[in-house]
Amino acid sequence: MLAFEFHARTRFVVGEGQLARLGQLASELKAQRVLLVSDPGIIAIGHTSCAEQILRQAGIEVSVFDGVRENPTSDDVGLGCQFAHQFQPDCIIGLGGGSSMDCAKGINFVYSNGGRIQDYWGVGKASHPMLPMIAVPTTAGTGSEAQSFALISDAETHIKMACGDKKAAFQIALLDPALTLTQPARVTALTGIDALSHALESLVTRPANAISRMLSREAWRLLSMYLPRVIDEPHDLQIRGNLQWGACLAGLAIENSMLGAAHALANPLTAQYGIVHGQAIAVVLPHIVDANWETCREVYTSLCSSLECLPPLPSQSSTTQSPLAKWLQNLVSHFGLSTRLQDLQIDRSDLPNLAASAAQQWTAQFNPRQLTADDLEHLYAAAW
Ligand SMILES: [Fe+2]
Repeated sequence: MLAFEFHARTRFVVGEGQLARLGQLASELKAQRVLLVSDPGIIAIGHTSCAEQILRQAGIEVSVFDGVRENPTSDDVGLGCQFAHQFQPDCIIGLGGGSSMDCAKGINFVYSNGGRIQDYWGVGKASHPMLPMIAVPTTAGTGSEAQSFALISDAETHIKMACGDKKAAFQIALLDPALTLTQPARVTALTGIDALSHALESLVTRPANAISRMLSREAWRLLSMYLPRVIDEPHDLQIRGNLQWGACLAGLAIENSMLGAAHALANPLTAQYGIVHGQAIAVVLPHIVDANWETCREVYTSLCSSLECLPPLPSQSSTTQSPLAKWLQNLVSHFGLSTRLQDLQIDRSDLPNLAASAAQQWTAQFNPRQLTADDLEHLYAAAW
């Protein structure tokens, strides 16, 4: 067994109705002035004002930064930081999907340590203590609530920067599945496939250890069991709760084991073509499973044994080989997402250029099988 260390830095508060405890939990962190970081969609649904009210009832002053956009950029973090300097918070809460939580971390890096977010690209670059933070996810996707990394895109170069520091971990992650009921079906699909890819990739990466593999396996069990069910039963709180916890466990696994080549292939599709992360993952993941199949046959076969059968696709012929890849592609289709790059208007002649970018991605090196730029181009071609 590989030597390893495991330290969960986040306290998890899980269950239906737990949002009501937000004021008490913030008070336990000695919060008196909370910066609530959220996005306009979540604000429109009313989750943000609900959280605001709960915090105010606990005697806490609250200010809402609503400037979070999908795939937050260095500009969004800069604006949030200016906002924080005016309000002078002593605690930051990220409420929303991965973008809100990552933006909250990004603001904390710059507010607490100065400079600009680009200075924190990498690991352990923050030298001063950071403000205590609480995560309140409203999706079951990124698992950002369990991680000390913020993914922020450089507004000029569009490069996705992973800014990580143990001090950037949330003190508390509050997981109330009732908050995920308001997701549109497409968001459930996109975030769900992303979470599933986190479980699958983190299980077999080179740095995976005894505990991260345990987390990945349980995440896979929950996500592979409940994702097919949520399609027909989107209002079932038990299903939503299991998905939310599965996504969180997968996030905690990533914190210890990183990700693999599916994320390396997906990131250039987002950066260069604006394809939403979950959709990019949905197209490439089955092909990465095929590519890793021989290396990971034993592990992957064990995952297949517990899979629920999905109804077969009548008209679409599968472009994948292994049973696990076929199951994944089938799930992607049932969610109504695209399974081919050509359907996403990706220019075939651009595949070598995309492969060169994919080979530069940080996560490529953690894939169980070493893949060259040529291999990655073949995988793009298979997915095209
Ligand atoms: Fe992801």
